[in-house]
Order: sequence, then C-alpha cells, then structure tokens
Amino acid sequence: MSTATRFRPVVPVLRFIVPLALVLGLFGYAVVPLMDNFTTRWSVRDLDTRSKSLAGALQEPLLEYIPQKQRKKISQLFDRAIQDERLYALGFCSPEGTLLYATSTYPASLGCWRPPEGKDKALVQLPQGAVHLADSELMQDGVSLGRLVLVHDMSFIERRSADTRKYIFGFFGLLALAISLISLLIAHLSWRGWISGVKELLRGELRPRANAGASGPADAVDHPLADDLRAMLQEYRQEQQDESGPAGEWTADTLKQLLQSDLAGDQVLVVSNREPYIHHATPDGIEVKRPASGLVTAVEAVMRACSGTWIAHGAGSADRETVDSHDHVAVPPDHPSYTLRRVWLSQEEEEGYYYGFANEGLWPLCHIAHVRPVFRSSDWEQYVKVNQRFADAVIAEAKSDNPVVLVQDYHFALLPRMVRAVLPKATIITFWHIPWPNSESFGICPWREEILDGLLGSTIVGFHTPFHRKNFLDTVDRYLETRIEPEASTVSYGGELTQVQRYPISIAWPEPQDNALSVAECRAKVRQALGLPEGHLLGIGVDRFDYTKGIIERFQAVERMLELEPALVGKFTFVQIAAPTRSALEEYQNFEARVRALVQRINAKYDHQNYIPIILKAEHHGQAQITEYFRASEVCMVTSLHDGMNLVAKEYIAARDDEQGVLILSQFTGAARELHEALIINPYHIEEGAEALRSALAMPPGEQAERMRSMRRRVKDFNVYRWAGKMLQDAARLRQRARVMSKIHKINAHSKPRRAA
Ligand code: G6P
Repeated sequence: MSTATRFRPVVPVLRFIVPLALVLGLFGYAVVPLMDNFTTRWSVRDLDTRSKSLAGALQEPLLEYIPQKQRKKISQLFDRAIQDERLYALGFCSPEGTLLYATSTYPASLGCWRPPEGKDKALVQLPQGAVHLADSELMQDGVSLGRLVLVHDMSFIERRSADTRKYIFGFFGLLALAISLISLLIAHLSWRGWISGVKELLRGELRPRANAGASGPADAVDHPLADDLRAMLQEYRQEQQDESGPAGEWTADTLKQLLQSDLAGDQVLVVSNREPYIHHATPDGIEVKRPASGLVTAVEAVMRACSGTWIAHGAGSADRETVDSHDHVAVPPDHPSYTLRRVWLSQEEEEGYYYGFANEGLWPLCHIAHVRPVFRSSDWEQYVKVNQRFADAVIAEAKSDNPVVLVQDYHFALLPRMVRAVLPKATIITFWHIPWPNSESFGICPWREEILDGLLGSTIVGFHTPFHRKNFLDTVDRYLETRIEPEASTVSYGGELTQVQRYPISIAWPEPQDNALSVAECRAKVRQALGLPEGHLLGIGVDRFDYTKGIIERFQAVERMLELEPALVGKFTFVQIAAPTRSALEEYQNFEARVRALVQRINAKYDHQNYIPIILKAEHHGQAQITEYFRASEVCMVTSLHDGMNLVAKEYIAARDDEQGVLILSQFTGAARELHEALIINPYHIEEGAEALRSALAMPPGEQAERMRSMRRRVKDFNVYRWAGKMLQDAARLRQRARVMSKIHKINAHSKPRRAA
C-alpha cells in the first residue's frame, strides 16, 4: 500500500479537526484575555457611574440627618441602600477622618478611607475580595459635613466575565463546528467533482479546452489536472498505437506496400534544406559525400523505399555540374532509386535564411543550450523568400493536385501554408526534428505567429517526443486563435484541421554485409590507426561540432574519471569525431576554439607520461568508418544538452551485433525515452558523467550483453520504416476522410436546389 493510500482515511478527519483546533486555539489565546479586560473596564465604568448617582441620591436625606446626628435614621437609610446586591457597604467619616456611621458590612480595615491624590475612586483588594471604593464629600453652605464612602463588591464582575466567557465559548464552539463541517463538505464535493471529471475524461466526454477568442470562456472546461491526465492518456494511446501496425517487422518493403495500398501510389515529395548527396569538386575529380545529419540519415532510407522526389538546397561545389536541365539528379549514385531536385540559393539568401534566421534564430531558440537566439528583420525577409522558392519548387514538381509532401525541419516553417495556398488538396506532413521549447521561450521569436500559422498549413505536424508535441500545442493555444482537441491531438485553425503527433524517428536497421569487418578486426584496425596498443580501452563520441552536443561536458567527465580512477591513466583514450558544421557562424567558431583549448589543457596534464587521454578528430567521416569506431570502442558517449532524438545513439546500438559495448546517454535526448538500458546521465553533472564512464569501463560482459540485446531489439523493431509508415498511415487516413467529406459536400450541394424547388 502506498503512503498516499495509507493516509487517505486520515485526511477528512484532519480536515475536520484542524479548523476546529484553530478556532479554539484562537479563542484560548487571544479572545479570552481580551474579553476579560474589556468586561472589567466596562464594569468599573459602570460602578463609577453608580457610585456617583447613589451618592447624589443619599445627599438630601444625609444633609437632614447628619447635622442632627439622627443615628437611627442614618442607619436605616444605609441598610436600605445596601439592599442593592452590588453595593456592599457604606460609611460616613467626619471632616477630621473619624468613621461616624457605617453599615455592619463595612470592612474595619478600611477605616476612614481616602482616595489617592486627585482621584475620587479606586479598586482595592481586601481579604474578602476585590472592592470598588468611591468617595463623595457632603457639603452644606460651603462647609464640609464629612465624606461618604461607598464600597461596591467586585465579585459580580468575575461572575459577569465567567458568564460572558461561557456564551462566547459556546458561540466560538458552534462557529468552529460550522467551519469544520463546511470545509469537510467542500472537500467532499470537490473530490467527487474531480473524480467525476476523471470519469468523464476516461469516457472521453470532457469538452476540449477552447481558446477564449475562438469560442468564449464559457466553453472552457477547467478541470484540475485535466490537461495532465489528457496528455498521459494521449501518450498511452499513442504508445499502444505505436506498438500496432503490420504484423512483423517494418522494412523498406512494408513501406513500399503501404504506399501502394493506402496511398494508391501517390507521389511523395520531400523538402529539406540539407541534401542527401553533395557533389564536391576535388583535384581528383568530383566526389560525392553524405552529410552529417540525422535527418538525412533517416529520410534517405525512406526515400529509397518511396522512389519520389527530394527537393533540397544544392550546396556542393560540383552540384550544378551533376544535375540535368531540370536541376534533377538520380540518387543514390550507385543504385539510383529516387530523384534529387536541387534549389540554388544566392549567398545573400543562404546567409539570411540558413545561417541567420534558421541557425542563429530558431536553432538556439528551440535548444535549451544557453546560447541566445538572434533575430534580424533582414534574415526573416530571406527566410520568407527562400521558403517561397522551395514552395514553388514543390508546386512545380507536383504531378497532381494532391501529392504527399514531407516537409523537414525548422528551415521550412512557412512552406506548408505556402504550398497549401496553391495545392489545397495536398497532404502535407511537417516533421520538426529538433525540440520545441515551452510557449514562454518560443514567444521570444518576433515572428512567432507567422511561424505557427505557416506550420498549421500542414495536415500533420510531427515531433519526436510527447513533451515537444505538448509544448507546440501550448504555444499554438497561447498565440493563435485556435480550437485544440487534446484527445484527438488536433488543432482547428481558420477552418482547417491539423493533426499534431509524436513520431519518434529512428534508423534503418543495417543489413548484414558480407565484406564487413568483424568486431575483432575493427578493434585491431582502429587501435593500430591511433597508435594504441591492443587491449587499450576506447571511448567514442560522434557528433557535429555543435554547442548543443555537450562535448565540453563530455571531456570534463573524461578528465574527472581519470582523477577518480588513476589506474586507467595510460590505459583509456576517448576519441571524438566532430564533423565541421555551420563554421561560418561566430558562435560555432568560438565553441570550436573552447573545445580545442580544453582538449589541449587535459592532454597537457599527462604530457610527461606520454599519454593522450582525448583525441579530437574534427573532420568529416564516412558511415563505414564511423561504424568501425563504434565496433572498436568499449563505450559510446552521447551527452547532448538538448536533442530532439539523437540518432548516433541508435547507430551505435545497431553497429554492436556482438552485443557488447556500453551506451552513456544524456537524459535530455529524445532517445533517452526509448533506450532505458543505456546509462542515462545528466550531462551538466560532471561527476555523474565520470561515474557512468567508470561503471561502463568496468561493466561485466554479461551485463553489457543483456543491456545491448534489449536496446537492439527495440531499435530494430522501432526503425525508420515504422516512423515513416506511421506518418503515412495517418496521412492516408486523413486523405480518405477528406475524400469522403468532399463527396458529402458535393451531394449536399446537388440536393439543395432540388429541395428548394
Ligand atoms: C540537425 C537538424 C537537421 C540538419 C542537421 C545538420 O540534425 O535537425 O535539419 O540537417 O542538424 O545541420 P546542417 O546545418 O549541417 O544541415
């Protein structure tokens, strides 16, 4: 039984007792003393007044009896007066201070009492109790005949206080009881309301949260925790859907079949900034390179299966030389299976759209890596212009009015709306490969509404994680007048519906290669190339040279690990492959300089031992070479400070068919949501990174195999074909729905005039 469950019955009791105790405590500590004080002052004032009026009433008979010394009459007069229960005694003193007459009750100890200087009354404590004494001079023709002393019993004040206390106590008691019962009732009702809200939610009856501008606040349902619950349910449902799909594995063939069956062989167009093949002019002729881009790695596999057209920026120095008159080139160069259509950009366009708005603005905005985004109007203008140019290319390449357009990444946020304007029936799937920040952070972008409006031109917008999907929905909700259906995960905007989904990207599971080097061969080859002895331990990192990848934190962890485990000094080396990227930007140049300085400093510490702990290879490496490094290493470190998915982690796992090797993975990657058997770390915590590295290097082969086996199963199963297949299946469903709706509209349009006739 959980702690929460164990304490649940106690909660109502506490709800009852706490207000009761609070009210009674308040009564005891504050109200009672205040009330006593108030009652005493009020009673004394009352006695002062009474004494005065009594003295006044006795004056006339005393003026008659005193001069004649009529003792009997005076005694009768006094006895009658003290019939009043509060007047305890009376006495009369001569001007010289001799007690001449007094009632039998007059306390002897008082004698001929005189008030303190300047006063005519006082409170005195006598053995029989507290008394109120008042003094009144009896004057006749300006001559004093003596002084009347009035003694009032104060015990009635005590009694009055006790009575008042009793009533007030009763009042407060009832008040406390009422408050406790009310709070118990409210708690009970709100619990029932919450439960029924959850029940409604589970039944799918909870109305969607509407943007106030769209349908008014009256429609908005504000159930506590409803948003979180909806998100959880949505995530759960999607995970279940993810598990479903065609029986067996998702392969390139499954995807092809899906295109034929569900999309009737419709044309597939991909748009991305980075092209999958770059032709470079070298002194030895034209060379083809595959860029370092997770996006390209994944989408390329899909395109091979789909045989469509990929539209991208032709950035290579020999790209123009290799295209035909339509700017087309068939790729992959060895087995052409789809068309690459290149779009040419001027230097001004590339600087403003790619370097400026996309990589100095949106990239740091979406990655929480503590680099400030820069937004310039001139960059924005180029971004709009280039998006339009690519949209025009899509429209020109479309062979029908309803192609399937797969838009990739933050370079083309405006393109979906631009394509939709000309091809309203197109199915546009936009995939955002990087994180989406929270709505507050996204609000920094001066053109946030335009970006959101552009993206909502898509039929589907996809993210890697539910968290980024939710951030996007929150951002849309905050800055645009839309109607969001959290259950269905759709945004209704300007009469159009956009599905917002989570599609975790992956890699194509590698086919076994006949001529591939074995793990032992890779180990020997890599060590030899690095000049390291056999058995030397190796760590590997493969990234673009980007500040989001946590390369500095990774090296600091290596340094700390060597401090913690001096036995590994001289026996372990970390190899970092860092592919140059966006190096025209100052931020990237500075970052590279910092990394190089750090490597130098760490390596210099061990100079005298002829030991190099970190080898930095800041150059482009082909996939085959990277695979050899993966297979040769004991451990792979992926320490991104923020990453949409990170496919390097999955590539490392795919490369380890020997089921050995340990993956250290940053908790801030999308991959960490899937690869639970990796050593998950917070890369900002250097000690944690160092400890993980130490454990990885000491991990027994059995444990490595167990972890690796499980992760390999997952990546193999949840591969890139499943990623694309899921999106295309959803697209097919939405296309089908659109067709049915348009038929219904047509039928309605035909039947209306007849009805009118
Ligand atoms: C990330 C982005 C991709 C981009 C890649 C390489 O993975 O999501 O869109 O292609 O980085 O960056 P680059 O600027 O060289 O294309």
